[in-house]
Amino acid sequence: MSTDDLVLVTGRDPAALARSAETALGAPLPWVGEADARAASATVWLASGLLPVTPRALPSLRWIHSAWAGIDRWLDRPEWSGSVVLTRTVADFPERITEHVLGHLLAGEIDVVRAERQQAAKLWQRWTPGTLGGKTMLIAGHGEIGRRLAATARAFDMSTLGLRRGPVTAEERAAGIHTEEALPALLSRADVVVSLLPATPATESFWNAGRFERFKEGSVFVNVSRGRVVDDQALLASLERGRPARAILDVFREEPLPAGSPYWSHPGVRITPHVAGLGSADSEGKAFAENWKRWRAGEPLRHVVDRARGY
Ligand SMILES: NC(=O)c1ccc[n+]([C@@H]2O[C@H](COP(=O)([O-])OP(=O)(O)OC[C@H]3O[C@@H](n4cnc5c(N)ncnc54)[C@H](OP(=O)(O)O)[C@@H]3O)[C@@H](O)[C@H]2O)c1
Repeated sequence: MSTDDLVLVTGRDPAALARSAETALGAPLPWVGEADARAASATVWLASGLLPVTPRALPSLRWIHSAWAGIDRWLDRPEWSGSVVLTRTVADFPERITEHVLGHLLAGEIDVVRAERQQAAKLWQRWTPGTLGGKTMLIAGHGEIGRRLAATARAFDMSTLGLRRGPVTAEERAAGIHTEEALPALLSRADVVVSLLPATPATESFWNAGRFERFKEGSVFVNVSRGRVVDDQALLASLERGRPARAILDVFREEPLPAGSPYWSHPGVRITPHVAGLGSADSEGKAFAENWKRWRAGEPLRHVVDRARGY
């Protein structure tokens, strides 16, 4: 904490972000904009949206707060060096992603697409909707978002399994949460596999041919974390074999997803443009304000990123 703090704010809409942080705090903050000559003296950086292509020279920087939950883009940034602390945002991502995942799964079960098609054709033809109840969901990446998703999925009478880097406690194991060596057995039980793994060197192409082979026939794969955790060729080949039968994808190795990607026209693939957790400046600003209070009080910050783990 320093009384001379200057907070650099960058992103999609820095003014809205600054306003929402001040509203949450009930007090003004010492903001400095990107174009301001004093930006180079910033001690704190509230970073939302895309990062500048050219790294910034910020010799006084001590704390970076990412308005995003995934911090993979910071892993090789020189601004996050030495004793600079990096924190990330959790805010309402767990609720938003939970609704996104369950919403798309339910839409598949009750066949919203068919209802729309039939309505357009004024066709009265009944079908038996599926149900999530009784199915098993494996959540790979059982962290902040995964725990919320699991609790809500159980409210739909689903059984849940979890994968963590670990170590896991005996109590967690009893609740179906395991580490990587148990993954083949977990996959053979899962009707739905949700990837919430952060992008790190250890999770690059985590979902590869060998792992898709263990998927149950007719299962659904959902990726709402990062595109880099999936081997796309392996997923496309596995979809042909029905393991999984469907994929609900919000994130891709290259974004925007190129027009030539086979995912666009694949009948088993549902695409959304990285919106599963997209939040408002309000929730991002509020999350920053909470940590700012701690920073000023010299208290430990929340959601500090572990450099060695990479998430
Ligand atoms: N699509 C969107 O709009 C959107 C929005 C927000 C977030 N996200 C993505 O969601 C990810 C998860 O967010 P979160 O807040 O839930 O993160 P988190 O709380 O850090 O949870 C990450 C989980 O992944 C586990 N994990 C990490 N590396 C692993 C490995 N090699 N093998 C097995 N498990 C591993 C961790 O294990 P431990 O518990 O043992 O540490 C933890 O349980 C973010 O990294 C981000 O990429 C996407």
